[in-house]
Amino acid sequence: VSQVLLKNPNEPPVVFHWFPIIGSTVTYGMDPPRFFQEMQQKYGDIFTFILLGKKTTVYVGTNGNEFILNGKLRDVSAEEIYTVLTTPVFGKDVVYDCPNSKLMEQKKLMKIALTTEAFKSYVPIISDEVNSYIKRSPDFKGNSGIVDIPKNMAEITIFTASHALQGKEVRARFDESLAALYHDLDMGFTPINFMLHWAPLPSNRKRDHAQRTVADIYMSIIKKRRAEGQSDAKDMLYHLMNSSYKNGQQIPDHEVAHMMIALLMAGQHSSSSTSSWIMLRLASRPDILEDLYQEQVRELGPEPLPPLQYEHLAKLPLNQAIIKETLRLHAPIHSIMRAVKSPMPVPGTKYVLPTDHVLLAAPGVSSTDEQYFPEPMKWEPHRWEKDSRIAPSIVRNEVEEEEKIDYGYGLVSKGAHSPYLPFGAGRHRCIGEQFANVQLQTIVAEIVRNFKLRNVDGGNDVIGTDYQSLFSRPLEPANIHWEKRDSP
Ligand code: HEM
Repeated sequence: VSQVLLKNPNEPPVVFHWFPIIGSTVTYGMDPPRFFQEMQQKYGDIFTFILLGKKTTVYVGTNGNEFILNGKLRDVSAEEIYTVLTTPVFGKDVVYDCPNSKLMEQKKLMKIALTTEAFKSYVPIISDEVNSYIKRSPDFKGNSGIVDIPKNMAEITIFTASHALQGKEVRARFDESLAALYHDLDMGFTPINFMLHWAPLPSNRKRDHAQRTVADIYMSIIKKRRAEGQSDAKDMLYHLMNSSYKNGQQIPDHEVAHMMIALLMAGQHSSSSTSSWIMLRLASRPDILEDLYQEQVRELGPEPLPPLQYEHLAKLPLNQAIIKETLRLHAPIHSIMRAVKSPMPVPGTKYVLPTDHVLLAAPGVSSTDEQYFPEPMKWEPHRWEKDSRIAPSIVRNEVEEEEKIDYGYGLVSKGAHSPYLPFGAGRHRCIGEQFANVQLQTIVAEIVRNFKLRNVDGGNDVIGTDYQSLFSRPLEPANIHWEKRDSP
């Protein structure tokens, strides 16, 4: 009753809860997508819940995506939410430890290394890493076996991303000290750190030590490259070392190092989780894996298939659709948050969101909404073919060329109304989308060449999701059965 009496008519409905600080933290934390869907049915597209004492206003659906992700700079802030978590891990003066205008410049400079020219050189590097991993991994000895796949996909992701994007010196160090240091850094990247980022916990001490050590490793590589003349590889490090801000200042070495850490962390979790989901989904649908192999034979064949090149990827639409469809159901970032900086009227409603609210966008809700994606919970990569019975409305209607806008890091779609936004939208939109696509498409194409996969019990079930980390991923163990394609 008290909750009803206290309700402010200009604020969204508050999700019912028994305890003031805990609020809905536990039900949200256990399964955020289910929480969003159930609350949407009960309260509509916009509602407030208590997350660790904070009034958190969720706005789902396409209007919610637009309202939050395209919020004006004076109205919303990402850095205010994320900095406690990211600054100890990335280091000072980059991403959320600087004004937004500097982040926009940094994103622009990072994007310079993410060109078609660069991607052309990345595909053979990624292919080689996948094949040599399969050859040397004890988990893939023999002709067939069962493997708990997320660990392997995490390793494949870090070896491929570090080699392609970070350069050969960084990749070489992942065989030695960097793997353990990376793990310690990663321990600073958990939800608990939103509250305990400052605490003198052993994990935080390890995190801080790892941050300093990894930053030193990058800075020593930079110094060595400078002393020996430039590396011949025009990788991310090369571009950042040789870039300047608009005011003419060269990027200081410590900022280059911290940006490299940020890129590594940003790409690793999302791509590694996505590649694990792809393997699990393919194991649950061996027919699709066979379609993928036949697509390669048809488009790139006859057998033996040629070494994979960047140009091949565009000829493999089903291989591309695998990534799209997997991100539709398993976007690794289920909650995107912003602090409210000035009271925000919500268009078309009587609500005005005050500055003590946090905003939460969840594009995963619209990407599993039946009105846009018929049979929404079905993983069906073929739906992205135009003539599919369950093609998404965005494919069937073929949205005309969208208006673009530049927030300072290159042109992106102006609107954020799309029901499908696994890479976000607006000024904080992902700059790694193309790289992730190249990386994931190459990994999938190579796995399909090497293996036939199936569920251990031969069925079509798929494992549940672990929401305990900041990025959602498959619950473990996540075992699948593999068989080498060329086995006798
Ligand atoms: C931002 C998703 C891979 C670098 C984002 C955002 C999303 C996202 C949803 C927006 C976050 C927000 O608005 O708060 C993904 C997914 C990936 C992926 C699903 C892979 C499947 C990568 C990779 C890199 C990267 C490989 C680096 C090479 C970034 C950066 C930002 C970003 C720098 C900007 C953060 C900001 O401006 O606040 N990503 N990402 N991402 N991502 Fe990715």
